[in-house]
Amino acid sequence: MTAPALAHPAVPVAPVQLHQVSRHYGTGEARVQALADVSVTFPAGSWTAVMGPSGSGKSTLLHCAAGLDRVTSGRVLLAGQDVTHATDATLTGLRRRAVGFVFQNFNLIGALTAEQNVALPLKLAGARPSRQVVRAALAEVGLADRARHRPRELSGGQQQRVAIARAMATRPSVLFADEPTGALDTGSARTVLRLLRRMVDTAGQTVVMVTHDPVAAASADAVVFLSDGRIADRLARPSAAQVAERLTRLEG
Ligand SMILES: Nc1ncnc2c1ncn2[C@@H]1O[C@H](COP(=O)(O)OP(=O)(O)OP(=O)(O)O)[C@@H](O)[C@H]1O
Ligand SMILES: [Mg+2]
Repeated sequence: MTAPALAHPAVPVAPVQLHQVSRHYGTGEARVQALADVSVTFPAGSWTAVMGPSGSGKSTLLHCAAGLDRVTSGRVLLAGQDVTHATDATLTGLRRRAVGFVFQNFNLIGALTAEQNVALPLKLAGARPSRQVVRAALAEVGLADRARHRPRELSGGQQQRVAIARAMATRPSVLFADEPTGALDTGSARTVLRLLRRMVDTAGQTVVMVTHDPVAAASADAVVFLSDGRIADRLARPSAAQVAERLTRLEG
């Protein structure tokens, strides 16, 4: 018999759940409803792509789910914790322990080497990572030989892999990525997508990824489509052609 899910609190059944989440920005005439009554669950050990036209609320969804932004109403559960009304200190702690974030433009610190960049979140979380641990993280993304290089000495795809190693260093229960392949050429993008797939398949990582690229979305297990801040559709294991077709109808 398999053990009940509750026996493993470190691996919750669904590390991210949004219940009827709305997010407004601004007031009066400047008021924008970035998310409107969004309910979505990102299951453990799965990879979900979030797609939709520009301004449809994808980044807002990611930021609210990751505890980087506050919701106007609704509830967010992250790594088994209700973070809706959490204090800033609680949120910061949770982000450092439970969440990894990868950005389109990598956001590496230019003055630090690859290994120093990877070690940073561990240090912020209060750990004193050994060089061995950091080198192992770089080896996992195929960059063992680039540990002493600074970001400007690396290609875009290599920088994004360092950013993924950094995001994964604290073994977060969920990895959020906002257009992680957006700035990459086709070959580098494919390398990053393969890496994410391996993390999901072999380490049971949960990944939530915003992308504009139907090929990238088709690498995921499911695709959630946003339109005007609402969930418009969800497809399981779609082909790139199906994703493109659905997206065209949303943008039309
Ligand atoms: N800090 C903010 N202040 C005011 N409005 C905002 C803010 N952040 C986002 N918005 C608005 O909320 C809506 C959703 O923005 P969001 O960044 O989530 O879109 P997106 O789907 O990620 O778009 P893109 O594909 O262009 O990145 C947009 O209309 C945007 O202008
Ligand atoms: Mg965005």
